Amino acid sequence: MQIRPRRNRLTPALRDLVRENILTTNDLVAPLFVIEGKDELVPVASMPGQYRMSIDLLVEKTKSLQKLGVRCVSLFPAIEDSLKDPKGSEGLNPDGLFQRAIKEVKNACPDMLVMTDVALDPYSSDGHDGIVNPQTGEILNDETLEILAKMALNQAKAGSDIIGPSDMMDGRVGYIRKALDENGFKNTAIMSYTAKYCSAFYGPFRDALDSAPKSGDKKTYQMDFSNIREAIRETQLDEAEGADILMVKPGLPYLDVIRAMRENTTLPIAVYNVSGEYAMVKAADEKGWINGEAVMMEMLTSFKRAGADMILTYFAEDAARLLS
Ligand code: PBG
Repeated sequence: MQIRPRRNRLTPALRDLVRENILTTNDLVAPLFVIEGKDELVPVASMPGQYRMSIDLLVEKTKSLQKLGVRCVSLFPAIEDSLKDPKGSEGLNPDGLFQRAIKEVKNACPDMLVMTDVALDPYSSDGHDGIVNPQTGEILNDETLEILAKMALNQAKAGSDIIGPSDMMDGRVGYIRKALDENGFKNTAIMSYTAKYCSAFYGPFRDALDSAPKSGDKKTYQMDFSNIREAIRETQLDEAEGADILMVKPGLPYLDVIRAMRENTTLPIAVYNVSGEYAMVKAADEKGWINGEAVMMEMLTSFKRAGADMILTYFAEDAARLLS
């Protein structure tokens, strides 16, 4: 035999030498949920190890992530039901929970990148990412854009470094870019949720924010999981509209989409390893059916192999601890 691939696998040093993809803490973005109050820490039942926390604890968590080498957090607000309305008005409140959270995290950790979510659902009494026509149930695209742009501005003013529109309305990247530029936020970046699929893997996240749709589903704006060419179409649009980073979401069942987008854009690609993916690993680990830590590292590395530059993952802290 002339050719023996096993020769390159012979020892740990050889395997290290030929390794093609390496996960580091620079690749990790930690999603965190914030609530009102002080010293409040409420576990998310379907996401063991994840919590809704008040701003003081959010700041402590950010500091400890920074010590572990994590450079970016992605914040999500869990808003009280009494503040929700059909237009998501609380998202435009300059003194709202989310704005205070962004400010305090940036004050305490100026070097930590803060990524923020733009969509109506955390603030919407309908639990949808856009405005719902009460007669027809239609999700109104162009009417929603105006609110999204105001929401993005409100977050940029609070100190957000990277605006993440997760709503999937058409034209929102360009609309938000224009609003940011016109108001002096030309250096605030946009990470577009470019290929966001309509997925059952978001269940635990909706538990965390209590943001499940009150009626209908998200199929008229989030993508059909049968499609991949459509992801390239969204890629081209987001690129033309000025996005700085493109995202694929969920992660594990969509590695092919990451690869396809990698081959069709020069922009950085992010992947969101979503709540349901996290929950599956934690649940199977708790039952003793898999080695959760090993599965986590294999899963996170697979995103890099597929072509992702960064990974939003609830495993950020666990992985950073293992890596450091
Ligand atoms: C909503 C949003 C969702 C997630 C992030 N932003 C859920 C949804 O679209 O219903 C899901 C994240 C996760 O499951 O971890 N704008």
